[in-house]
Amino acid sequence: MLPFTRPSLGEAEFDAVRKVLESGWITTGPNTLALERALEDYIGNDIQIRLLNSGTSALEAALLASDVGPGDEVIIPAMSFVATANVVLRVGATPVFVDVGLHSRNLDAEQVAPAISEKTRAMIPVHFAGLAVDMDPLYQLAQDNNLVLIEDAAQAIGTEYKGRKIGSSGNPVCFSFHPNKNMTTIEGGAIASHDQDFIQRIERIRFHGIERTDDGSISVTEWGGKMNLPDVGAALGLAQLPRLDDFNQKRRQLAERYFQRLHESEILVLPAHAEGHSWHMFCVCIDHDRLGTHRADIQQRLQKQDIGTGTHYPAMHLFPLYRRYGYKPGDFPNAERIGVQTLTLPLFPAMEMDDVDKVCDALNSIIPN
Ligand SMILES: Cc1ncc(COP(=O)(O)O)c(C=O)c1O
Repeated sequence: MLPFTRPSLGEAEFDAVRKVLESGWITTGPNTLALERALEDYIGNDIQIRLLNSGTSALEAALLASDVGPGDEVIIPAMSFVATANVVLRVGATPVFVDVGLHSRNLDAEQVAPAISEKTRAMIPVHFAGLAVDMDPLYQLAQDNNLVLIEDAAQAIGTEYKGRKIGSSGNPVCFSFHPNKNMTTIEGGAIASHDQDFIQRIERIRFHGIERTDDGSISVTEWGGKMNLPDVGAALGLAQLPRLDDFNQKRRQLAERYFQRLHESEILVLPAHAEGHSWHMFCVCIDHDRLGTHRADIQQRLQKQDIGTGTHYPAMHLFPLYRRYGYKPGDFPNAERIGVQTLTLPLFPAMEMDDVDKVCDALNSIIPN
């Protein structure tokens, strides 16, 4: 069976985890600190990194440390993993959805600008599937309107934008190291920032609000949760990070093969391509109405040939929770079309070109050219 994704774990990962388990200290400790420094080196530009127990925690902590809360509106894409919206509700703010590009699946400044109101405090662009959002116009928009800009880079570790790593911008950037991501700490996440005060707040927010004073005692000056990353996961991450560029290179080669073998048509929409893409996922849209079938049928036909697929993601504004804010079908046509038509094809570093060919043969036999 070819799943749509699978983590690449080998002897280095097994050894690293075993060493931590044998060490007697398995929660946050030296491995977490070491992975923070290693990620800082990897991303560059003197960025500071702090690890948390998930990408969701990273986004929530970034909003809290930016003082985004009740009464504030936060602009987010209408199509993402639902964590992007849920964290906004979690801090008491109101999500304001904006449509995404059909091919890029990302926000762009032209769509964002009209959604800015007097209440807008922040925006969270998502680098979907490892494709960098065109950030420069969004930085400008954030600057002109005095907005907090938090990048949801859950799917974009190793992605580059204009030759620089995502995470190096200085504004808060949040990563996820969930097992489906391009590198993993089992569950885990990180925040990158240039702002020392912000980083100190993240340290407090991720661990009970605790601050250590010079005499070794502790103080609590603000609310904090329990969002720290255990060392077992960090050790796994330390074994994964040196392999990340090779993983991403292989992902790029596999994606290239998909582009060679699949053909954009009225029925098939291929993803946007760009320099620096880390190809976390290869997501197409299939107009199954035109084919006279359902997405589930297509998935079943592929499943019968031992090909697993995913559906990333439904449009978030149509979930019952978000309809309560007045959203309805027709509000964001691209997000809705993607939600209904999207299909994630297998893509992970251990795949071979033959595997891509097998998927393409199966898909091409379903979709007429
Ligand atoms: C775009 C996006 N944001 C946030 C998250 C949340 O990350 P985590 O699962 O590590 O909490 C994910 C994870 O899938 C994601 O894809």
